[in-house]
Amino acid sequence: MSTPLPLLVLNGPNLNLLGLREPEVYGTQTLDDVRALAEERAAQHGLTVDVRQSNHEGQLIDWIHEARTGHCGVLINPGAYSHTSVAIRDALAAVEVPIVEVHISNVHRREAFRHHSYVSAVADAVIVGAGVDGYALAVEWLARRVRA
Ligand code: DQA
Repeated sequence: MSTPLPLLVLNGPNLNLLGLREPEVYGTQTLDDVRALAEERAAQHGLTVDVRQSNHEGQLIDWIHEARTGHCGVLINPGAYSHTSVAIRDALAAVEVPIVEVHISNVHRREAFRHHSYVSAVADAVIVGAGVDGYALAVEWLARRVRA
């Protein structure tokens, strides 16, 4: 059997500061912890993850385009771009592999401007408010979809 393509785990702006920034909202685990969590869960299904973070919209879009041929699924936490970026939404709409949108915090319990995400309509599943465990849940779901 050929080696499966990796899962792309994309993190948007400010998520490089995970663990340091607003720990009362996002917790104390870092992006490295998230990477370890995602790697471990993917490995349980014989998959690998490609974890990336950028503060730049265009960079995220270029990486989403790579997933058209280079990845078997996409987990994306678009950060604040969820609420503003039609361009990221359109890039995801051009990808045929399964997509899960993750938010660490429960955005629906927060400010009104966080209640709408442009990404949700093009995601196959959305996980909100489960903390960084949401990444493990999303990898689990993607792995099952990919393996099915
Ligand atoms: C976030 C929620 C967004 O509203 C916020 O801008 C973020 C993080 C989350 O993971 O809870 O940067 O996507």
